This record gives sequence, structure tokens and C-alpha cells, in this order.
Amino acid sequence: MTKPISLLEIAHNIVGSYVAPGDISLDATLGNGHDTVFLARSIGIGGHVIGFDIQPQALVNSFQRLLQHDLQRRVTLRLASHADMLLHVPKQWHGRVRAVMFNLGYLPGADKAVITQIDSTLAALNAACVLLAPRAVITVLAYPGHAGGELETEQLAAWSQRLDQTCYTTEVILSSHDKPAAPRLFVIRKQADLL
Ligand SMILES: C[S@@+](CC[C@H](N)C(=O)[O-])C[C@H]1O[C@@H](n2cnc3c(N)ncnc32)[C@H](O)[C@@H]1O
Repeated sequence: MTKPISLLEIAHNIVGSYVAPGDISLDATLGNGHDTVFLARSIGIGGHVIGFDIQPQALVNSFQRLLQHDLQRRVTLRLASHADMLLHVPKQWHGRVRAVMFNLGYLPGADKAVITQIDSTLAALNAACVLLAPRAVITVLAYPGHAGGELETEQLAAWSQRLDQTCYTTEVILSSHDKPAAPRLFVIRKQADLL
């Protein structure tokens, strides 16, 4: 039987359809750096990725992964909350960011008590909307199945419904494991500038 495509692969496919060489993109939750490597490949030599995490181990793991692929020169790593991304993205890139990826929850292999929190997640999403270019995308992989994750996912859904529908569309993609606690992928698309 063919293995079902994972939500992470779907997120990469969607982001890959937006990002082109030379673009700016953000990894809001570095973790072990898988998404950062994907973004760094997608933006090419002329583009740049800025990645955020609050745990030093995540920056170490991500940097090692980037080194393995010789992609480290395309990426800036910040030990900072994604809630503060506006402070870390250079002013000249505001309004030019093509994609922002969030993968919520905890750092695999580390302390599971250090997880994303709804207040900073929503602050980061609002900041991401300020930074986005016309025709850009935010993906958020959410995990209602772990402690705090259900509330975070509910509030995320409520936040996305409050977005200005003339500028943004939201799609929620459910996991093929048809359970209420299964992960889900929020895809927030910003329209191209209307003429
Ligand atoms: C599921 S992991 C991310 C996986 C990662 N994208 C990858 O490709 O390996 C979630 C990460 O979010 C980080 N995190 C939690 N709160 C954060 C915050 N306020 N700002 C930035 N990162 C945060 C955690 O430390 C953890 O490393």
C-alpha cells in the first residue's frame, strides 16, 4: 500500500509552490532544522531564511543540519521568540516575506515541557501577516493531541477566522489519521495585490 503523504510533506509542497530563488522566508520554530533546510534550498543562493527558537539546542541542531547540506550562509538563526520576529527581520524585508512556517509543540528529543504557547503563537502570526509579501503563505502544523495543544489549535482556528477575508484565505488540512486529536495543517494564503 502507498504510504499516505504526511502533513509536513503537504506543507513543504504548498510552501514550495510559493517560494522562488531570491525570496525571503521565515522558520518560526526551528526545532531540529528540517523545515529550515527545506526553506534554504527553496530560496536559492540569492534568498535568505531567518529562523527562530527559544531553545539553544534547537539552534545547535539546526546549524549542524544546515552545515551538513552547506546551506548555512543562506540562513540567520535567532535565539528569540517568534513573537518578536518584527524586531529581527530587517526593515527592508518587511512586506517582502514569501513564506512563514510554524511547526508547533516541543523540540523532539528535548524537554517536552517547553512547548509553543498560544499567546506568543498568535503574536507571531500577527507579526507574520505584517511581514508577508503579496501572494505569500503561512503554514502552521498544529498538534491538538498533546498537553495544551487542543486549546492552541482551537484558538488558532478562531484567529484565522478573524482575518480579513478580502486579503487572506485559510484552509485546514486534516491528517489521514481520522481522529479528533490528530495533527492538522493550517494554510493561510495572502492574496496578490488587487488591482
Ligand atoms: C515541533 S518543533 C519544530 C520542528 C522544526 N520545524 C523542524 O523542522 O525540526 C517546535 C519548536 O518550537 C520551539 N518554540 C517554542 N516556543 C517558541 C517561541 N515562542 N518562539 C520560537 N520557537 C519556539 C520549540 O523550542 C521547538 O524547538
